[in-house]
Amino acid sequence: MPPFTTDGTALGASARAHLDAGAFGYLAGSAGSGATHRANREAFECHRLIPRMLTDATHRDLRTTVLGTPMPAPVLLAPLGVQSIVHPDGELATARAAASLGLTMTLSTASSHTLEHVAEAHDEGAATHDEGAAAHDEGGAGASRWFQLYWPNDDEVCASILGRARRAGYTTLVVTLDTWTLAWRPQDLDRAYLPFIRGVGTAIPFSDPAFRAGLAKPPEEDLGAAVLRWVPMFTGTDRSWDRLPFLRRHWDGPIVLKGIQHPDDARRAADAGMDGIVVSNHGGRQVDGAMASLDALPSAVRALEGTGVEVLFDSGIRTGADILKALALGARAVLVGRPYAYGLAHGGQDGVRHVLRSLLADLDLTLGLSGHRTPGELSPEDLHRR
Ligand code: FNR
Repeated sequence: MPPFTTDGTALGASARAHLDAGAFGYLAGSAGSGATHRANREAFECHRLIPRMLTDATHRDLRTTVLGTPMPAPVLLAPLGVQSIVHPDGELATARAAASLGLTMTLSTASSHTLEHVAEAHDEGAATHDEGAAAHDEGGAGASRWFQLYWPNDDEVCASILGRARRAGYTTLVVTLDTWTLAWRPQDLDRAYLPFIRGVGTAIPFSDPAFRAGLAKPPEEDLGAAVLRWVPMFTGTDRSWDRLPFLRRHWDGPIVLKGIQHPDDARRAADAGMDGIVVSNHGGRQVDGAMASLDALPSAVRALEGTGVEVLFDSGIRTGADILKALALGARAVLVGRPYAYGLAHGGQDGVRHVLRSLLADLDLTLGLSGHRTPGELSPEDLHRR
C-alpha cells in the first residue's frame, strides 16, 4: 500500500488533516477570490491530449537538459518558502528527497534553513540516489540545486547572499519578479497569519554577514529589529529592467526570470540577456484575476522563438498529463509547487519522495500511452483545445 494517495489532485485535501489551519491556509491559499488559482487548473482541463498508437513507445527516456543542467525528467521543484510551517525538517527534507531522485530543487530566499545547511542535506540526499530513481536516471545525472532570489533592495546584502549561494554550489539563479510585495490573501489575513513577522523563513538573511552588519543587535538577541529590517528589504521593492545587469555582475551562472506572463516581458528578458524565463503566476497567489499560466505559455514561447532563451513553466501542475500539456505547448520543463509540500506535510522527506515518484511514474506512463518515447516529441498538434 502506498503511504498516502497517489492522486496528485487529491493531495491538498488529504494534507489538510496534517496541518494546522494557519499553515494549511498559507500553503493551499491564493490571492483574492482564488480566480487565478482556479483558472490555472481550468486551463489544464481545457486542453486534452490526442494519443497516438503503434509508435513502439515501450521504452521511454525522460531525460533532458535545462540551461546546462542534466535532469532525469523535465521536472523541477519550485521554490517554496517557509517550509518549516509544514514540517520541522522543511527544506532539508525536501532537498534530501529531491536529490535522492536526481531532481533539481530550487531553494527559496524565504527558506527556513540556511542555504548552506540545505546544500549539505542536498548532498546527503544525492549520496542515497537509489534504484527507485535509477529507472528515471540511467545516465546518472547528479541532482543540481538552483537558488531563487527575492531581490533585496540593499545591494550589499543581495551580493552577499548571491556569493554564498554560488559558493554553496547553487548553479542557476531564479529571480522571482511577481512577488515584490505580498498580494491580498484573505486566508492569511483573516488569521493574521504571516510567518515572516515571527522570524520564520528568514534563515538566509539572518545568517548573512552583510545583513547582520546592519543590525545593532544580532537576530538571536533582538528578533523584532531583525524582522523589521528584513521584511521591508524584500517586500515593497519593485525593480526595473535596467537593474538586471547588477545581478549578472554578481552571478556567473544562468539567470532565469520567474513570473513572466506577457509576451512583451518575455522579449524584454531576451533583450536583457537572460538565459531563461518561468512562465508562472505564482500558483495564483499574486494577481487575483490574472490569466491562467498555461494560457500565457504559447505566446511567451512564440515571443522567444530563435532567441535561445529557455522557457520553463509552473502554476497548476498536479499530474503527469498536466506536464505533457505544458511540454506540448513549448515548455522545456515544469516546476511543481504545492504538491510536494503536501507530501512534506504527510511525512517529511518520505512524503516528498512519494509525491515526486508518483508524479514521475504518472508522467512516464502517460507519455508512453500517448505514443511518445521522449518529452521532446510533443508538440501543440498533440493537444485538442475544448
Ligand atoms: C510559493 N511560491 C514561491 N515562489 C518563489 O519564487 N519563492 C517563494 O518563496 C515561494 N514561496 C511559496 C510558498 C508557497 C506555500 C507556495 C504555494 C508557493 C510559488 C511557487 O514557486 C510556484 O510558482 C507555485 O507554487 C506554482 O504553482 P503550484 O504548483 O503550487 O500550483
